Amino acid sequence: MTTPPHIETQRDLLVAQLGKLLTVEQTLLKRVLPQLVREITDEQLKRVVAGHVEETRGHVGNVQEAFLALGAVPAGEPAPGLDGLVLERHAKVGDVWPELRPAFDCAAAMGTEHYEINAYEAAIRLAHAVGAEEVERLLRANLEQEIAALEKLGAQADRL
Ligand SMILES: [Fe+2]
Ligand SMILES: [Fe+2]
Repeated sequence: MTTPPHIETQRDLLVAQLGKLLTVEQTLLKRVLPQLVREITDEQLKRVVAGHVEETRGHVGNVQEAFLALGAVPAGEPAPGLDGLVLERHAKVGDVWPELRPAFDCAAAMGTEHYEINAYEAAIRLAHAVGAEEVERLLRANLEQEIAALEKLGAQADRL
């Protein structure tokens, strides 16, 4: 069933985007990244991804704070894009020869970082547009760590 359009302002759109980001970060923290860490066989790559799990804990906190800075209640929204990335990996992983698994897993991890970076860039522009400086600052802090994580994973991908 579809609901009538209820996102009327840029602030509404920002709150919806924060809801998506909250779901994304919580899902990465609780489910996606820990599973990846368990499955990664390469020690260096495992350390990089495990380090980003800890950063992701902070990302959840910053997104929750961003809601409060807007005077909104933190509430998750569906994030089917992330679900799609997870399904895509699961659909292929059984076909991959063990020697290639670290490179395959590294590419999957990079995919989630690109997805997060895209979502943060959109949210930061909205926060800027509505003059929500504290929200912009919190989201930029997360974005910087996503970009750094992507660079570290890129170095691992080159090595692998
Ligand atoms: Fe994140
Ligand atoms: Fe990330």
